[in-house]
Amino acid sequence: MNSLSTSTVLALFGGEPVRTTLLPYGHQSLTEDDLQAVLDVLRSDWITTGPKIDEFEEVFAAYVGSKHAVSFSSGTAALHGAVAVAGVERGHEVITTPLTFCATANSVLYQQAVPKFADVTQDTLTLDPSEVERLVSRQTKAILPVDYAGHPADLDELLLLAEREGLVVIEDAAHALGARYRSRSVGSVSHMTVFSFHPVKHLTTGEGGMVTTDNDTYARQLRSFRNHGIDVDARARQTTGQWYYEMKTLGYNYRLTDIGCALGLSQMPRLNKNIERRREIAKLYKENFQTLDALRLPFIRPDSESSWHLYPVRINLKVVQGTRDEIFQALRAEGIGVNMHYIPVYLHPYYQDRFAGQDTSCPVAERSYKELISLPMFQSMTDEDVQDVVTAVGKVIQHFS
Ligand SMILES: Cc1ncc(COP(=O)(O)O)c(C=O)c1O
Repeated sequence: MNSLSTSTVLALFGGEPVRTTLLPYGHQSLTEDDLQAVLDVLRSDWITTGPKIDEFEEVFAAYVGSKHAVSFSSGTAALHGAVAVAGVERGHEVITTPLTFCATANSVLYQQAVPKFADVTQDTLTLDPSEVERLVSRQTKAILPVDYAGHPADLDELLLLAEREGLVVIEDAAHALGARYRSRSVGSVSHMTVFSFHPVKHLTTGEGGMVTTDNDTYARQLRSFRNHGIDVDARARQTTGQWYYEMKTLGYNYRLTDIGCALGLSQMPRLNKNIERRREIAKLYKENFQTLDALRLPFIRPDSESSWHLYPVRINLKVVQGTRDEIFQALRAEGIGVNMHYIPVYLHPYYQDRFAGQDTSCPVAERSYKELISLPMFQSMTDEDVQDVVTAVGKVIQHFS
């Protein structure tokens, strides 16, 4: 892959764009076999709450190395389930990161509890255990780290702290399917781990999510929570010829369909290849960008392997003559579908209104927010696509240098 320099006028100012069609920042990759798997379900007796659920859950649990995997209708629903069965309720606090999609913290609000935002570390932008420790109070019930961009959080430190304080660690691994932490698979480390199957993720069911856990009680409660608080599902009742069921707790309809499970199941054999391709793309980006002072590249700790859901770079605003937003717009104009992850959650208007007067300050997250741009990252990107990103970044950075 060749060098960064080109001296043409930015597309933003009327020059020729690097690409005429927008390269998205993420995209699903489905095959004819995946489509056939969905059709087969549509032609079967069960399009929801049927046999594909158990099959998908078993294969998924085996992949991450957990005892149980419980599917949900979205990652958000899965987070809600995990927070609920961890016993989080009104009056409790859950310590989480501000540098995440709002769904992470919203799951705490769904339980009428309060999310407390601890700052992230400079290197991986994941929850800083020492900041978490500062926020632990008598109301704290759980810690909710996010494996930002696919890099595992400091899980052992957080689990140690949780053990000392009697807390539950619910890991939001929406970005981190296939990531590894100290030789263990993400999904087998925390008390509960939550995944998302939104189309930009490593594997998709359209909408969908999963909670993995080794804890039998959590697994049973999660299955009930996703099914209105009813212990026995419709297929089990049909199989045993029973009509009787009891609703024992307040649950929701958070079930994933057999259609979605068949789609997910069909992609499982390709998952490692997909993550491998993302690692190759990250390597190409690193090779091409590491000499640029204007960019701070994602940092991977020696004990971790990222699964590269995102490739977020931080702009060195001391070096460039422009803002993140100007660089963002210039890249868009070049046909590169950059994105931004994330606005610190407590800065969203809803959180500002609801927690007005609360002194939340996470300087590392806030500074990073002003610097972050996510470059395209998905498994079906070709080497030519990667080259387009390299060319466009070089062109834009040169302009602003
Ligand atoms: C970190 C994080 N947590 C939770 C979610 C919610 O997942 P879903 O969109 O499947 O509800 C997302 C979605 O992108 C996410 O990025």
